[in-house]
Order: sequence, then C-alpha cells, then structure tokens
Amino acid sequence: MKPENTSLEITKATSSTIGKVDFDNLTFGKYYADHMMICDFIDGKWETPKILPYGPMQMEPSAKVFHYGQAVFEGMKAFKDKDGKVWLFRPEENFKRINKSSKRMAIPEFPEEYFFSALKTLLKLDKEWIKSGDGNSLYIRPFAIATEAGVSASPSNRYRFVIICCPAKAYYSSPVKVTIAQEYSRSADGGVGFAKAAGNYGAQFYPTNLAKDKGYQQIIWTDANTHEYLEEAGTMNIFFRIGDKLVTAPTNDRILDGVTRKSIIALAERENIEVEVRRVTVKEIVEAAENGSLKEIFGTGTAATVAQVSGFEFQDNYHELPEVENPYSMKFKKMLQDIQYNRAEDPFGWRYAV
Ligand code: COI
Repeated sequence: MKPENTSLEITKATSSTIGKVDFDNLTFGKYYADHMMICDFIDGKWETPKILPYGPMQMEPSAKVFHYGQAVFEGMKAFKDKDGKVWLFRPEENFKRINKSSKRMAIPEFPEEYFFSALKTLLKLDKEWIKSGDGNSLYIRPFAIATEAGVSASPSNRYRFVIICCPAKAYYSSPVKVTIAQEYSRSADGGVGFAKAAGNYGAQFYPTNLAKDKGYQQIIWTDANTHEYLEEAGTMNIFFRIGDKLVTAPTNDRILDGVTRKSIIALAERENIEVEVRRVTVKEIVEAAENGSLKEIFGTGTAATVAQVSGFEFQDNYHELPEVENPYSMKFKKMLQDIQYNRAEDPFGWRYAV
C-alpha cells in the first residue's frame, strides 16, 4: 500500500478482529482497530514510522515511563458521513497540543508530516471500523512515552510515539451528577494541568472513586489555592448557563485548552449567545442554582462531546438542575455533530477530509 506523503513502513494485519465487535453495544476503549502506528525516537531523531497490526509492545520493566510517568496523549475522533467519506475534526489542534504537552514533559516534539501521514494511512486501512450514524466514531488515541531503560530520575533519551484507534459511541449515555472538589486538586499554578499528561488523569482516579461512592460520576475541580473557583470537570472542560448567557473558565496553565471547548465558544458567538470567559466562583453557581438563574451545566471534551450535568453537590447540599426547553448542551452537540458528520456547512473550516 502506498503511504501518504512520507515514508511509512506498512505491515498489514493478516486477519481482522472486527467480527468480534458488537458495534451497537460498545464499551468505550474495549476494542481496537486492526492497525496501529509506532515510531521510535532513538539517537536524537524520530525513526521511520511503522504501521503494524495492533498488538502488545515489548518494553524493559525499567523503562522510564513506568517509573516517572513521562507520558502524554491526545484524544481525537474520525467520523463517517452518509456517503462513506471519512472526516477528522480540527486535527491540527490535537497535533499542536500533543507537542505542547510533550514539551512540558521533556518529550521531543513529533513531526507534523509523520503524524498526518500515519493518521490518514491508519484511517484508510481501518475504514471499516468507522461506522456512520449519529454518535458513532473511531476514537483515536495518539500517545508518546519514555522508553529508555533505567530508573535514574532524568529525562529519557528514547521515546515511542504510538497511535491506536477504538470504535466509540457516546462516552456518557445519560446526564451526569457531579460534586465540587473541596479537598483534592487536579492541578496547580506552574504545573502540568494544561497538558494531556497521563498523570493528570491517573491522579484523578482516587478522588473520583470517592465521589462515585457517594453517587457522583465526576468531580468539578476547583483551584488548588482557595477551592473557590470552578475550573474543569473530570476529563472535560465545563460550561455554566446562567440565564441565557454561557460562562466558562479561561484556560491557563492549570486548565486544558479543549478543542470542543473552543469550538463551542465559537459556535455560541456565531449564534449571538453571550459567552463570558472568566473565572467562575463556587459561590456564584450555588447562588444561581438557588435563585433559579442557573439553567444548565455541561462538560465538553472529545470523548464526551457535550455531557449534560443533571445536578451538583457542594458541602452536602445537592442542587438538581431544572429541565429546560431546548437546552444549549443539546443545541451545541447537534451543531458540532452536524459539522463532524458533514451534514452542515463548515464555516470555520474545521472538517478535515481523510
Ligand atoms: C478526551 O476527551 O479525549 C479525553 O481526554 C478523555 C479521555 C481521558 C477518555
């Protein structure tokens, strides 16, 4: 097979596992498409990327990623339109962000032409894994890890960049109940909160388990200094609808610069919906819930797209959100999906043909 634009070594899978997958009942991240991309960084340069059958990778137990968490990742989605054509959504944003994350984690930046060439080749080889129809997508997980053997606490001099893909449906099938963080923190000034560093997510598992024990699926993280400002929700950015206005926290070195987040801000502005990008206090949101002006809360992210929040807990008080007609969360989800599935104009040029 001829690779796209650059030299890629391609070894095709001799058989497919697609027959084992029940595409109507997908668990996120359970099944992987037949091919993956692997590219090693050795002696100061990225080697020729390889497309291989999806399968286990061998690594030394002393590889630095296992000891110091030198690892970053991205989440992207490919969509199939009704004519069978495949599209990515703003992939250049993910490419820029993984390199920004890598820089912060002392991982060498990955070349753009390798990234796009590998993506296009993978999506062509595994086209059957992308199902058309609302909510269906192929979730793409690029990641980079430190592979040098040796437990000295210093940056690795070997890395591996990998791309794997899994068929996905909605990440959350129904609205989520959330709790506002008062004790644990996700990120701090000068830290790595803005990066998709693996440890940012792993460190959330314990407090999220505690929240789950109390009946909440996610935590809305607050600033580490005062716990007074609302920042991000679990794996998502967070929006509040107060009256008819949308409010969301500005991105900074603690908050991920979400692609879905910035797309929704652009869509809202085009719809003449007022968007305030500013710090949001817990106090303000509790008061807005109490006086009825808080109409909606929703999280945004690649995996979740737009996830409605049904209510939130703060200091043992649960605030159920009202049922609103034509919620913004559904409106923006539909607008995004119409662009992603090539059902609507793409005034911003976000669709990327594969
Ligand atoms: C994404 O939305 O791509 C994420 O990063 C969520 C993921 C941790 C499941």
